[in-house]
Amino acid sequence: MDFVETKRRSNVSRKLLLAAGITALFLFMLTKSPSTTASIKFSRHEPGVTHVLVTGGAGYIGSHAVLRLLKDSYRVTIVDNLSRGNMGAVKILQQLYPEPGRLQFIYADLGDASAVNRIFSQNAFDAVIHFAAVAYVGESTAEPLRYYHNITSNTLIIVKAMAAHGVKKLIYSSTCATYGEPEKMPITEDTPQVPINPYGKAKKMSEDIIFDLSKTSSDMAVMILRYFNVIGSDPEGRLGEAPRPELREQGRISGACFDAARGIIPGLKVRGTDYKTPDGTCVRDYIDVTDLIDAHVKALAHAKPGKVGIYNVGTGKGSSVKEFVEACKKATGVNIKVDYLSRRPGDYAEVYSDPSKIRSELNWTARYTNLEESLSIAWRWQKAHINGYNN
Ligand SMILES: NC(=O)c1ccc[n+]([C@@H]2O[C@H](COP(=O)([O-])OP(=O)(O)OC[C@H]3O[C@@H](n4cnc5c(N)ncnc54)[C@H](O)[C@@H]3O)[C@@H](O)[C@H]2O)c1
Repeated sequence: MDFVETKRRSNVSRKLLLAAGITALFLFMLTKSPSTTASIKFSRHEPGVTHVLVTGGAGYIGSHAVLRLLKDSYRVTIVDNLSRGNMGAVKILQQLYPEPGRLQFIYADLGDASAVNRIFSQNAFDAVIHFAAVAYVGESTAEPLRYYHNITSNTLIIVKAMAAHGVKKLIYSSTCATYGEPEKMPITEDTPQVPINPYGKAKKMSEDIIFDLSKTSSDMAVMILRYFNVIGSDPEGRLGEAPRPELREQGRISGACFDAARGIIPGLKVRGTDYKTPDGTCVRDYIDVTDLIDAHVKALAHAKPGKVGIYNVGTGKGSSVKEFVEACKKATGVNIKVDYLSRRPGDYAEVYSDPSKIRSELNWTARYTNLEESLSIAWRWQKAHINGYNN
């Protein structure tokens, strides 16, 4: 009897030992599997590594920022709902930086507060660059609530999550549209902000939220960057600007110019030739995306606890729509048809920045200031990607 009992017990212990061994082996393999190693890297702070959450990283400016951050050895998490961005851009970034712990993509809508909180609790972010937004002035006038929701209320969700999870550094994408129609040019950071459309108003409200929050926290480091008109693309031709076809008509002058050069639209419509500008057409400050991203990297490096830095990001030089169109013709080699029409209500004659503050405080200056060169680089990508990232 005793012998049988002892034998049964030793069989049970052997099975238990075997089960424990298999479980240990399984756990060991699991922790060594590339995906777990990667997610552990994203979930823990690592000395010497700065983990940046890039919202809207699948979009035009966001994807260029991710490329630069990865090149500069940052760890990056993209959060994007792909409503306007391109998974194709994310795939290119993943192919360029496939090593575990470099880049992860999380599909989520920033309007979903519980999803955002989950992302913050599962990841150890050191900083946030908040690009994600809907960003067309005309659309904002037609759908104002969408803009207040997507820009203002989503920024509130992000900064609440940052406060709740102890993330102290924020770089915020703002715009010269927050200034409205200033009486004096160039625009400095002290020019009064009187936005005239829901896009500009929603961005100004987000700035106010961030500003007020930062006053309650002595260790929050904030940089607000107000961009002027962004053009260009990655000089090495890996990324470009590819808005969804249905957004084309909302689009910006460079997109329209390339569409005209490709024959997708019959020509360009220039509205207003009797402004008080040297050639009668509107004047804008075009900033190349490579320079813009450089400003973000400098802002990340200079962000100081307890401080809010506000900077215009522009070249400081205005170019007229006529000059832009001529540069576009040269860059594409296409004699684009141009129709000159009467003014569009709400357009202002001249907008250009005074970038002296960012030059002196962050040591940043725009380097790609030749319109034709920026447009040639962007055109190369456009020509090679007739269907955007779906090529
Ligand atoms: N392009 C310009 O000339 C310009 C000028 C001034 C400021 N900005 C600002 O720069 C930022 C980026 O602009 P862009 O031109 O790259 O736009 P974009 O549309 O190419 O990129 C925006 C990205 O945000 C994502 N997104 C939007 N709503 C989201 C949500 N609720 N949840 C998750 N992701 C969401 C989109 O899918 C897209 O990938 C915006 O904040 C915009 O206001 C742009």
